[in-house]
Formats: sequence, structure tokens, C-alpha cells
Amino acid sequence: MENLIIENVSCQAEGNEILTSCSLEVNKGDCVALLGPNGHGKSTLLNVLMGNPRYEVTSGSISLDGEDLLSMSVDERSKKGLFMGFQNPPDVPGVVSMDFFRAMINAHQDKPVSLIKFYKETTQAYKRVDLNEEMASRHLNEGYSGGEKKRNEILQMLLLKPKLALLDEIDSGLDVDALSLIASIINTMKEEGTTFIIVSHYDRLYQLVHVNKTAVIVNGKVALQGDGELANRIAKEGYSFLEKEYNIKIAKNEKKANDVSIGSCAVKQVIKPEQK
Ligand SMILES: Nc1ncnc2c1ncn2[C@@H]1O[C@H](COP(=O)(O)OP(=O)(O)OP(=O)(O)O)[C@@H](O)[C@H]1O
Ligand SMILES: [Mg+2]
Repeated sequence: MENLIIENVSCQAEGNEILTSCSLEVNKGDCVALLGPNGHGKSTLLNVLMGNPRYEVTSGSISLDGEDLLSMSVDERSKKGLFMGFQNPPDVPGVVSMDFFRAMINAHQDKPVSLIKFYKETTQAYKRVDLNEEMASRHLNEGYSGGEKKRNEILQMLLLKPKLALLDEIDSGLDVDALSLIASIINTMKEEGTTFIIVSHYDRLYQLVHVNKTAVIVNGKVALQGDGELANRIAKEGYSFLEKEYNIKIAKNEKKANDVSIGSCAVKQVIKPEQK
């Protein structure tokens, strides 16, 4: 990957406009801290990059090395080297982890991986994230602890060796030792050429992984950019200086008033905005 250019992207989900003219440029070798208050659009931006169909892009463009990313399917994006580590990895009952990993690797190459190579690589990856490899025979994420789920996301990143890794709060739920372990994996992959966009609310991770760029999402757009120092400042001072120094107002609940549905689909009642 040489560059990713996000230009004036707006998107909506379930009638809510979330991203509003959001722009950001990421170059090969960058390690970007993507920050912003809760609910302002960080995960949404990563989902839009990965192609989650729940988010409808209504305007703007995204190019990856000059190619139109938005016209690509999710699997095409993955084959181009994009990877997303989820904030909340879903349970996938009925799908054995090992089968999933093998299908995942095979989808990225012309010939199926040999069993021996696959076994060696997965065993190594389990060791690197310090997970018991017996988990490979369990259903994906089912019954995993919070920290195990996050380690399992990093394990998939190790197996796929992406060019651009989008990590969404990968540090939440990790114990102190796991945090250092994951940070050292990220640092090694950085040296091997992976570009990162990392969302975290805590500077513990940014102290262990050197970020060269910070982008702050406020009200659905990148409102401020800077170098790694900006992430440190936000960690120390919070977001209040954005308004004082940059006149960036952090809006709360300014979204368009929608109908509120109460109850299940069988017995559903709707409250109109004017009745609230
Ligand atoms: N699929 C969806 N349908 C409806 N609204 C959504 C959907 N996904 C996100 N939103 C809303 O969009 C806003 C931005 O959500 P997003 O998850 O991107 O925030 P975030 O910046 O990642 O926050 P956090 O730091 O809490 O993870 C929130 O108000 C959220 O409720
Ligand atoms: Mg989020």
C-alpha cells in the first residue's frame, strides 16, 4: 500500500448521518492514532473503509493506491491488504476457529495452504498472542473472555499479514502483560511494512507503539490533525482544549430527531419526535 485518501466522505446508518465530509490521508508506513470522544464516528470510519454494508456512503470518495476503494467488495478490500480488528468481535457459533482461519488464508491465495504449513503458522501465532492453541477447536469467539477475543483478533492479523491494519480499541480488555505483548507485535509488523490506523482511548498503547500522526474525529469528521504529540496531549488534558484553542465544538445529541421504537417486532410502538 502506498496511500489511502479519504475525501469528504459522508455516510449514514439506519437514517442517522454519522460521518459528515470526513477527510484523511494515510501514507505507507504511517501509524495513525485515531482519536475522538465516544460516539463521534471512529468505528464508523473504520467500518466504511472495510465495507460494512450497514453504513451507506452518501458522498465523497476513498482511494487506495489510486483505485476506488468504495467500489470494491469486502473480500476484494481484504485481498488488497486491508484488515480490521474489531472493537466488539462477534461470536460465531457453529464455526470452528481452525476451519475459519484456514478458509480465511485460502481465500487470500491461489492455491490452498498445505496442512503442515497451516498448522505451523497457526501454532506459532497462538504462541505469539499467548493463547492456548486448544482454543483453535472451539467455535469462533464463543465464550471467549474480553481479553481472549482481542488476542484472537491480533492472531488473525498475524496470519493475514495485512498491508493496512485498522485496529479498533484492540487494547480494551487486555491485561497489562497482554498489552505489552500486543504492542510488541504491532511494532514488529510496523518494521515489516504494515501501516496502522489505531483507535484507543488510552495512552498506554500509544506509549508502547510510536504513532507519527494523530487524527481527531469530532462530529463525524476529522476536525484536527497533528503528530504523535497531539495524542499525548489529549491523553493528559482530554478534549476540552479543542474548543478553547481551535474553536471545535463537541456537539452532543445534535442528531436529527428520529422515531423511537419500543418493544419487539411483534408488539411494536413508535413514538414520534413531536411526542417526546
Ligand atoms: N449501525 C448503526 N446504526 C445506527 N447508528 C449507528 C450505527 N453505527 C453507529 N451508529 C451511531 O453513530 C455514532 C458513531 O458511532 P461510532 O461507533 O462510530 O462511534 P465511536 O467514535 O467509535 O465511539 P466509541 O469511542 O464509543 O467507540 C453513534 O452515535 C452510534 O450510535
Ligand atoms: Mg468505536
